[in-house]
Amino acid sequence: MEKRGGFSTKIGVLMATVGSAVGLGNIWRFPYETGRNGGAAFLLVYLVCIFIIGFPVVMAEFVIGRRAKANPVGAFKKLAPNTKWHWVGYMGVLAGLLILGYYSVVAGWTMEYIFKALSLELENKSAADYTSMFETFTSNPILPIIWTTLVMIMSHLIVKKGIKGGIEKASRIMMPLLFLLMLILAVHSILLPGSIKGIEFFFNPDFSKLTAESVLTALGHAFFSLSLGMGCLITYSSYFKSNIDLPKTAVQVTLIDTLVAVTAGVIIFPTVFAFNMQPEAGPGLVYMVLPNVFQQMPGSFIWSTMFYILLFLAALTSLMSLHEVVTSYIHERYSISRLNSSRLVTGLVLFLGVFCSWSFGIMKNVTLLSMNFFEWLEYLTASVLLPLGGMLISIFVAWYLDKKIVFDELSNDGKVKVKGFKIYIFILRYVAPLCIFAVFVTSLVK
Ligand code: PHE
Repeated sequence: MEKRGGFSTKIGVLMATVGSAVGLGNIWRFPYETGRNGGAAFLLVYLVCIFIIGFPVVMAEFVIGRRAKANPVGAFKKLAPNTKWHWVGYMGVLAGLLILGYYSVVAGWTMEYIFKALSLELENKSAADYTSMFETFTSNPILPIIWTTLVMIMSHLIVKKGIKGGIEKASRIMMPLLFLLMLILAVHSILLPGSIKGIEFFFNPDFSKLTAESVLTALGHAFFSLSLGMGCLITYSSYFKSNIDLPKTAVQVTLIDTLVAVTAGVIIFPTVFAFNMQPEAGPGLVYMVLPNVFQQMPGSFIWSTMFYILLFLAALTSLMSLHEVVTSYIHERYSISRLNSSRLVTGLVLFLGVFCSWSFGIMKNVTLLSMNFFEWLEYLTASVLLPLGGMLISIFVAWYLDKKIVFDELSNDGKVKVKGFKIYIFILRYVAPLCIFAVFVTSLVK
């Protein structure tokens, strides 16, 4: 087998890990969930979930990954030999594959919209035109699949090159560009006349709109957004060197991921309100509502092109982290070369992707318990596998793993100071698993 690679620089570690966390979750899903769940109050609950539950689990995945230096299944086998814990790893790899199935389809849509924006197709239309444009495109049996294939090939070309020359390099180019585009769009959006209503909606909480269900949505979304509960961070941290400060990296990733979600809100809500549109549009928000908002601005095609490029970059860096999880498992477990493992994953994902894409067209009405294939994959991963995985990971680190191992990893064998270790273990033992359990049960019941 080839030598196991790794990240070469601290900034590479940060860019790649942030690249995984920041994705469609932040820019596509977060704004529409916030819009649907009443704005600022939802934001507040989301922030609590991120910092009280998400952040400790990020560190837990880091501890497992760097200690074991293996894919999620291999990691549990190493740290807990002769137990069933490696099933958590299998669950993670499966979740990765299933998320890839629908994530690659939505990532493909962003490419279509980049070209729509560039070719001025998004100009001078009515609100109804944008809706039918989106529906006509997503229900096409071939075109979205071509985009999905293209996105997966790009991800494959990066992943096959390994960590240092592939994922690290790509992240170091794409992430700064993403931050720059975000900043420009956010400033532009705040400067729009009438933006203040959007800012108010986003930052002035109205707790009467908050339901028990929105609390659960917030927690589930915190997991999805931080790439938690399926071994993605285990896989990435298995490539961290021993000098990487795990708590510091966890703080940075959590903060930046949150900042990007908030910035996405700052870009979207003021614009939506400035042009008197409704923020509750749901998943179509960035494809059906935003083009209508953009077209009313001077220089509209520049803003829309920039926005969809931003969305594409965010999606691709997350996609490749998912791709890496499954690839590293196949590569290490079956001693298949990285190249062939990555090819295999690409093929499997495209197979799933076809059915996900058709769920918006010819297979729209093929449902089981009133959910189509796309909705099933989303539900199984975001509402079942991720929370369950996150809960088991926190239990594993807090209850099973020797506390000395946990401390040694967090402190780099005593070289860096760790504050609040006892509180950390307490949260990981009780607070995180119990809260996740509540979410998990409620979402299953629903
Ligand atoms: N965190 C990514 C996003 O917000 C999605 C993701 C989930 C990536 C799980 C990897 C693992 O879009």
